[in-house]
Amino acid sequence: MQIISDIQQMQSLTGDFKRAGKRIAFVPTMGFLHQGHASLLREGRTRGDVLVLSIFINPIQFGQNEDLDRYPRDMERDCRIAAECGVDIVFTPDAAGMYPPGFQTGVTVRDISLPLCGASRPGHFDGVATVVTKLFNIVQPDLALFGRKDYQQLAVIRRMVQDLSMPVEIVGMPIVREADGLAMSSRNAYLSAEQRTSALCLHRSILKVRALFSSGERSTAALKQAALEIIGQEPSVLIEYVEFRDGATLAEQETADHATLLALAVRTGQTRLIDNTVLGEEL
Ligand code: PAJ
Repeated sequence: MQIISDIQQMQSLTGDFKRAGKRIAFVPTMGFLHQGHASLLREGRTRGDVLVLSIFINPIQFGQNEDLDRYPRDMERDCRIAAECGVDIVFTPDAAGMYPPGFQTGVTVRDISLPLCGASRPGHFDGVATVVTKLFNIVQPDLALFGRKDYQQLAVIRRMVQDLSMPVEIVGMPIVREADGLAMSSRNAYLSAEQRTSALCLHRSILKVRALFSSGERSTAALKQAALEIIGQEPSVLIEYVEFRDGATLAEQETADHATLLALAVRTGQTRLIDNTVLGEEL
């Protein structure tokens, strides 16, 4: 496994792979890897001849009062997990290389970036779309894997790749959860034992809504009420949004169907957590 920080060195390696006819699979991350990231890497390993992992805490996707400075990191552990998953190249650019003085170009995916996380994190998806475009230009992957944990991010990337004719296959991967149902996230490291327990209300509300949907409830107002009640039982958890939207367009829905997305975002203490489910899909 090679660890490369230099953008030009990465680009010239990419060129070598391309000329040799190798299929490049790519998993972009911000590091502090967990089994969710590992599932993407393992799938990438089976689909590509070369597996590239990027670790870059992208400053331009963080808001002013967000956790950029304290975002967890552990390069040694990340490299161990990467090696176990069969990664060939770990690409770790630095912010000065990615955003040199004078940088002024960005990618905006308009409507689909606006609701849900886009509403509470203005500019966030511009930062994501811009860095993913840069990473795609550097790594030139044939396919790139993203988790459905960040459902809206995946939707934004799919839209961008289609709109800008980027020659990359986007693979969406299922949410990996802890044994008790909490969706894995690097940010779970912030949680105290108490917060960790109260955060389970996200999964509980997902299970409840899915059960109601299975028994025939189609009113998103009624389904939302049920989710709000469950989360409301945890006084330390503040709701940012609980929304029912079309899984493809993210348009609001009054009547749920099998493609309906339930998306949730909450805060407990300083930590923001998201989760989601598509009602007609397996958990
Ligand atoms: P990060 O939060 O590190 O996530 C990297 C990838 O892992 C994303 O595609 C995310 O959806 C996926 N992932 C995270 N938790 C997961 C889980 N529990 N199950 C399945 N997949 C999971 O998302 C980012 O980084 C950044 O925004 C990035 C795309 C790298 C751009 O900076």
